[in-house]
Amino acid sequence: MNIRTGIVNGVATIEIARPEKKNALTIAMYQAMADALNAAREDAGVRAVLIAGQPGVFTSGNDIEDFMSRPPGQGSEGLDSPVFRFMQALFEFDKPVVAAVTGAAIGIGTTMLLHCDLVYVADDARLAMPFVSLGLVPEFASSLLVPQLMGHRRAAEKLLLGDPFTAEQAVECGIANAVLPAGEVVNHARRIAERFNALPPGAVREAKQLLRAPQREQIMSTIRTEGALFAKRLRSPEAMEAFQAFFQKRKPDFSKFK
Ligand code: COA
Repeated sequence: MNIRTGIVNGVATIEIARPEKKNALTIAMYQAMADALNAAREDAGVRAVLIAGQPGVFTSGNDIEDFMSRPPGQGSEGLDSPVFRFMQALFEFDKPVVAAVTGAAIGIGTTMLLHCDLVYVADDARLAMPFVSLGLVPEFASSLLVPQLMGHRRAAEKLLLGDPFTAEQAVECGIANAVLPAGEVVNHARRIAERFNALPPGAVREAKQLLRAPQREQIMSTIRTEGALFAKRLRSPEAMEAFQAFFQKRKPDFSKFK
């Protein structure tokens, strides 16, 4: 299975494990992550969740093959897709979520971090949100949360130009808590997650809810608005050119589009 799960010492781990495709997330993997989060929410023995990838790659984002051949439906159908179920499960998860980011964290690999509580990045981490370069639009409320974190200008570098950024820059702009050596980041994140075993779980849950409460509705409605546009753009000629270029290992040519 490309999503490995397990519970050790109060921490439920969700490990993305599809290294041969740079941990690209398929529909089945989104569903498995949503299921793992929902199970962890119900399990009183789980005090926190740890999300991790593989050495050198956290995730290269959505599987581009799936984008081409099985895009999430438009309209209300899209709201029932596994990717939306994963977003909702993470956004509504009421216990702390800690992420350990190694190597590439692209697309949803970066935007999911906006919904984690504590984020530790390896010194080899390379983050990017190249939605526009793929003919798409930002998702997972990144169009709202990224400008809030770093201001419009720096958000435009990342969301319009799709510029990648380093672990240090992720900390500097507020996406991550700290940079760790690549070989230590997962254990560090796990130790942080285990600290919740010694804290009162009810107070942790309510405090987490309060942190998001002022923006809850806005975030959810942004996820929906972005999702509708995203689903439409997945079927656009611009996106098709970008996806084909990726698999043909060439630069996309957008010169003919208006
Ligand atoms: N979807 C589907 N397949 C992907 C993928 C993705 N998001 N990312 C990587 N792969 C596949 C490649 O097609 C390749 O498959 P192949 O061996 O059958 O040719 C394999 O994984 C290895 O990828 P490759 O590009 O050769 O590795 P790399 O080390 O040169 O580069 C990345 C790694 C992550 C920088 C690069 O793969 C990449 O940019 N991926 C796409 C990221 C992206 O745009 N994601 C969508 C965001 S919305």
